[in-house]
Amino acid sequence: MKCRVCRGEAFVKLPAHNAAFCPEHFDAFFLRQIARAIKKYRMLPPGGRVVVALSGGKDSLVTALVLHRLGYQVEGLFVDLGILEGDFSPASRQACEEFCAVHGVPLRVYSLTAEFGRGIPDIARRYPRICALCGVTKRHVMNEYTLAVGADALATGHTLDDMAAALFANLLRWDLHYLAKGLPVLPAEEGFAKKIKPLALQAENEIRAFAALHEIRPVEAVCPYAPEAKFKRYKSVLNELEEKSPGLKRAFYEGYTQQAHRFKEETARPPLVTCAVCGLPATNSPCTFCRIWRDAT
Ligand code: AMP
Ligand code: FES
Ligand code: ZN
Ligand code: ZN
Repeated sequence: MKCRVCRGEAFVKLPAHNAAFCPEHFDAFFLRQIARAIKKYRMLPPGGRVVVALSGGKDSLVTALVLHRLGYQVEGLFVDLGILEGDFSPASRQACEEFCAVHGVPLRVYSLTAEFGRGIPDIARRYPRICALCGVTKRHVMNEYTLAVGADALATGHTLDDMAAALFANLLRWDLHYLAKGLPVLPAEEGFAKKIKPLALQAENEIRAFAALHEIRPVEAVCPYAPEAKFKRYKSVLNELEEKSPGLKRAFYEGYTQQAHRFKEETARPPLVTCAVCGLPATNSPCTFCRIWRDAT
């Protein structure tokens, strides 16, 4: 197997792109692909400021490294959930700290325990749907923080596999609300920071190769509360299809991004009010975050 560019020994084979690359040309190819997606979907202005939500996993670390290398002003944000079981939060935090130190990326650690004197395990006793509440918590912190620092956008590490699996699941259910919101970019609105997913067109195998190439050391611990990995079944069905028709996953998702405007009218959400505590838009006041963490009633 030879590199498409220099005919040197290939280090990665990408059937979806009908190509193989040596390390150097894969690196350039990967960055170029993401630069193109950022431009196509108007994710960031050149040299713009971006908060990257870092979980310690490879996807968000790769997102930060790529944006940093493309010349954006990157700041990492890690939400420390205070989950000590299996060393989950401490190990995740350490992975983020190590990465940021090596690559010269500033990191903000937002610790629930430091802010509110308790973490996810303390509220897990009271709330059965802890993963959903944890999601609400993380999204609130990321949004509030991005607005507070005035960055151009908030980036998460969602990948093509995540986006295509969610699309597949939402199509099977004809969930029009989510079908309108599966884009790689969600624009800023009053009280909502712009949300971007720079890896939305990058498949798992490419991201894994890029992480290996740059010796990214993601956290290995998994969340003790996590149920089955999200959309796992949908991902494996799509990967089976991809195996037979390389490029199918990307065509499926990219096609959707061109058609998504058709679902726009379905975005109607419950009317929003302003949370009396944090001042952000929410379905109720106080918002769920302020009720849980700030004990607001
Ligand atoms: P997940 O829903 O766990 O697959 O995470 C999706 C994305 O959310 C990740 O790629 C990160 O960008 C972000 N994220 C997840 N957990 C955290 C965390 N504890 N702190 C900051 N960002 C996170
Ligand atoms: Fe939030 Fe597991 S990461 S409950
Ligand atoms: Zn080459
Ligand atoms: Zn609030």
